[in-house]
Amino acid sequence: MSRIFINYRRQDSEGYAGRLYDHLSRHFAAQDIFMDVTSIAPGVDFVQALDEAVAGCDVFLALIGPGWLSATDETGQRRLDQWNDYVRLEIASALRQAKYVIPVLVGQARMPAPDALPEDIAPLARRNAFELGRQFAADVEQLVGVVRGVVPAGARGKAAPDSAEHARKAAALKALRDELVGATGSPLYHFRNENRFFPVVGDGNPDASLLFIGEAPGKFEAAEGRPFVGPSGEVLDEMLRGIGLRREDVFVTNLLLDHPGKRDPLPEEIAFYAPFVDRVIDIIRPAVIVPLGRFAMQHLLGKLDLPEKRGKISQLHGKLIKTRLGYGEIHIVPMYHPAVVLYSASQKDILRKDFERLKLFI
Ligand code: URA
Repeated sequence: MSRIFINYRRQDSEGYAGRLYDHLSRHFAAQDIFMDVTSIAPGVDFVQALDEAVAGCDVFLALIGPGWLSATDETGQRRLDQWNDYVRLEIASALRQAKYVIPVLVGQARMPAPDALPEDIAPLARRNAFELGRQFAADVEQLVGVVRGVVPAGARGKAAPDSAEHARKAAALKALRDELVGATGSPLYHFRNENRFFPVVGDGNPDASLLFIGEAPGKFEAAEGRPFVGPSGEVLDEMLRGIGLRREDVFVTNLLLDHPGKRDPLPEEIAFYAPFVDRVIDIIRPAVIVPLGRFAMQHLLGKLDLPEKRGKISQLHGKLIKTRLGYGEIHIVPMYHPAVVLYSASQKDILRKDFERLKLFI
């Protein structure tokens, strides 16, 4: 049964709906998110079919973009005024069935006034709206928090434990991010703002025992504010799947927390971001740290002044290096960066084998 229903108008907010779906599916099982009424068989009463689809949800997200109110069909008639408009039928059904309906504003849309709406969906205008603004990823995380409070615990596919410790870690990560947003002393501060990028503090489960540290966010990551969402992220996900893990079982960050452009990190950038990364480590307190690539590896081994600190990644990948941090004993398991294996099947095999080593800790 679908627990979260995403109602949207293709013409108005299809892209936002897709992004929202992707984010939600990192927190909830796919079968708990319902986005499209795809196949209603010939002869079936579609109003009833939509009612049934809506009946199965606990939270109904009504996406409202800039063209939502005024969208017209090919004859120039406003879609919302048509009795058989799916968007309207679904919203009317959710309101009638007293579902938890949240209007979700995207693309800087404003909430419509009740008198601009057909009578059966006019009460939507009184529902407090949630805005997904320019900080899309961060806003969706807040929305996830709201949805989590509504979807019954038993229905959650991938919920994180709701302990006080979890909340403390999440708050500390948020504070770190806020600090970074205003860190004018960062060598990448202006580059980030000029390009409307976001800092990328990290993502995943703050209670994870496995922490991955990449090199630096790429442009995909900086546009979204999340690490490893581009092609390297696909490799990372594939490797995790290979050992039975999902992204939400681990925590992923980078050595630089801002995108530096298409080049290697500079020493002054590493020097600036390293204390932030150390704080991330201290917040997550992982049992295993996996530096992905030579930059993260060298930084970690050097900072801890380990005997392996001058070693090359070609010698150290897949090795278990036991050491201590302030909070206890840890293992460092260096690995090649996922980008290295993008075009090489043999490197991919090596990475896969190295990931197998992590099974010792799962
Ligand atoms: N490469 C990285 O090192 N980090 C990312 O987040 C993405 C690509």
